[in-house]
Amino acid sequence: MTTDALRTRMCDGTTGRARPAARASFAVLAAAAYACAMSENVVLSARGLVKRYAGDGAAPAVLDGLDLDIRRGEIVAVIGRSGSGKSTLLNVVGQMDKPDRGRIEVLGVDTAHWRDAEQTRFRRQRLGFVFQAYNLLPTLTVRENIALPLELNGLACEPRAGELLAALGLTAVAERYPDQVSGGEQQRTAIARALAHRPALVIADEPTGNLDADTGAEVVRLFERAVRDSATALLMATHSREMVGHADRVLALDHGRLQTVDA
Ligand SMILES: Nc1ncnc2c1ncn2[C@@H]1O[C@H](COP(=O)(O)OP(=O)(O)O)[C@@H](O)[C@H]1O
Ligand SMILES: [Mg+2]
Repeated sequence: MTTDALRTRMCDGTTGRARPAARASFAVLAAAAYACAMSENVVLSARGLVKRYAGDGAAPAVLDGLDLDIRRGEIVAVIGRSGSGKSTLLNVVGQMDKPDRGRIEVLGVDTAHWRDAEQTRFRRQRLGFVFQAYNLLPTLTVRENIALPLELNGLACEPRAGELLAALGLTAVAERYPDQVSGGEQQRTAIARALAHRPALVIADEPTGNLDADTGAEVVRLFERAVRDSATALLMATHSREMVGHADRVLALDHGRLQTVDA
């Protein structure tokens, strides 16, 4: 769908009119509800992940038998030198790329053998992403960008979009387009968008990487508060001391595995 076509479908943010709920897949919802009850608050469980890029036969695997568990409401920071595989890990557990080996469960559900459309729907409902380059849609306003995951999941845009605009200090720029706001405001819009549909897990790749120190610190505080308010787990790759300081757990990625770092 083009962004213009999408725009004509968007809910009217100023009135808060909600579109009719999309037909949810019963199988997806039932599987997630059952698994959620069974999984003792484990949002993400990854076991034995191996990932090697094509043509890299001789090089060590980027992920080499990696295990990771994240529980509801937890903030987990992954640190590691550039090229250590942080983005690869986030892409694999976010199901944007496939591991060569290993098993990933989100809310106790392994979707590896589901059809693509079902996988996409599950990912869209359960996960949120904050990309380093923001990836906002330029033809949608700040408010419409934040409402997009609500729209795509058949949820009412308001009051949730308005609440997030207020929580992240964006109300004054809500009707502007991304190229009419600052880098910090774009980043906060990307954060609000990732949280909008109350995903079980938000995955953020160096979410303050492009911001100056002051703006970065402010974004970190707002991000942490929004994550805690939404009871969402957060997995983030970061170089930022400030971000690491807000994490419940810090894991270092080295030689394809994760090790706990003492705070
Ligand atoms: N699409 C790709 N194709 C081939 N090699 C890749 C690709 N993406 C990343 N790599 C390589 O995998 C390693 C880990 O990269 P990456 O996950 O981006 O690390 P980080 O995010 O920690 O900087 C690096 O050696 C990088 O060059
Ligand atoms: Mg990276």
